[in-house]
Amino acid sequence: MTEPLTGGQSRSILPAAHLRGEPRLPGDKSISHRALIMAALAEGRSLIGGAGDGRDVQATAGIVAALGASVDRVREDGLNVDYRVASPGVDGLHEADGVLDCRNSGTSLRLCAGVLAGLAFFSVLDGDASLRSRPVARIIEPLRSMGADLRARRSDSLPPLVVIGRSQLRAIDFATRVPSAQVKSAILLAGLRAQGRTTVREAVATRDHTERMLRSRGVEVRRVPEDESGGRPVAWTLEGGARLSPLDERVPADPSAAAFWLVAGAIHPDAALTLRGVGVNPTRRAAIDFLVRMGARIEETAVGEPCGDAGEPLADFTVRSSELEAIDLGPADVAAAIDEIPILCLAATQARGKTTIRGAGELRNKESDRIEGIATGLTALGARVSVSGDDITISGPTPLVGAATETLDDHRLAMTFAVAGLIARGTTTVDLAQSAAVSYPSFFLELERLRA
Ligand code: S3P
Repeated sequence: MTEPLTGGQSRSILPAAHLRGEPRLPGDKSISHRALIMAALAEGRSLIGGAGDGRDVQATAGIVAALGASVDRVREDGLNVDYRVASPGVDGLHEADGVLDCRNSGTSLRLCAGVLAGLAFFSVLDGDASLRSRPVARIIEPLRSMGADLRARRSDSLPPLVVIGRSQLRAIDFATRVPSAQVKSAILLAGLRAQGRTTVREAVATRDHTERMLRSRGVEVRRVPEDESGGRPVAWTLEGGARLSPLDERVPADPSAAAFWLVAGAIHPDAALTLRGVGVNPTRRAAIDFLVRMGARIEETAVGEPCGDAGEPLADFTVRSSELEAIDLGPADVAAAIDEIPILCLAATQARGKTTIRGAGELRNKESDRIEGIATGLTALGARVSVSGDDITISGPTPLVGAATETLDDHRLAMTFAVAGLIARGTTTVDLAQSAAVSYPSFFLELERLRA
């Protein structure tokens, strides 16, 4: 059912004489998944404008449709898509005829598991070879304690994941062991079907898109403490039994996709790039702030109105060629910029001094082991990278030299090595390059346009 590889052919990247322009950005992947899931939970017709059309979000759209919502693609442009979703509401969803295919998407798997825990039928969530190596015990434990029955391969540690849900769950008060918005979201989504108040505590505040979108759908979700800055301990609570109202959501541009161009512009010696309508939710913008701390010349202009009902803040950015300095990042910083660490590592190769990234172990649980992948790829390009346990050290600046890089079929590694190719002398090859389409279908088109 699932193709074993997401990647496809390799790409050769030549150095760019200059970088100019405004790359188009995909709609935020995290928000797009959540909008589709919440549209399925809400009875009636929902509209989702500008969802990212990467393969991960398509997987969630397929799951929502298999459970009985009708999902129409009303407009698409090869990068983003507008969806119209008509749903019978949470009590009208039904058992799928087959396995629910999450493809490469951990977010689809974990968030949908939270929904399925509260639906009284049998479901199997599966995906590609990468997904089958990603941990699920972290969601099995809390969802079981809420009363759902979950089983997985290898003593309940790896997908495929079987969920036999119950329409009435128990509320829990749960502290996540690793900072994870996916685990938090799974518990909150299950909490909608629980009697009483569900609480999720996290040591570091992770992305809060689920909470914002639930609030915008009429669910009372409380945050303690109330102020919205990321990176500190926080608890989230919601009362079970709430009904969601349909959505009319516009998805902001994805800050994790924007990060590739912010780094490209900062490390290239002749660059000026503009990025528009980027989501700057405080729980998502850490990588931008780290780049500014490193000395990146990034101008930020707030866009007046927050985006969509969920009130996600937006900004436009211009980045110019910069002289970067090394930075020290600890475990809380890693959690706050979990998806941007690979591209920040590339920035560090061009920064003066020794960058240290400590406590990055969660990177080993992503679409690939990103610590090994980034260290091997950047070393092949001539960078000075060392890994000790879960800590990464990068000394710079080092001129990069084109080489063959291995992406491990991981979209974020493919895009990182492609950006490296823009400044490396000679030709950089990026294997399995089509994996970029997991989150950013037009990435290579944009890259070629910027150097034209
Ligand atoms: C995501 C949360 C993060 C992130 C992933 C998207 C989300 O995963 O790496 O790309 O949308 O909730 P974890 O919560 O497992 O760290």
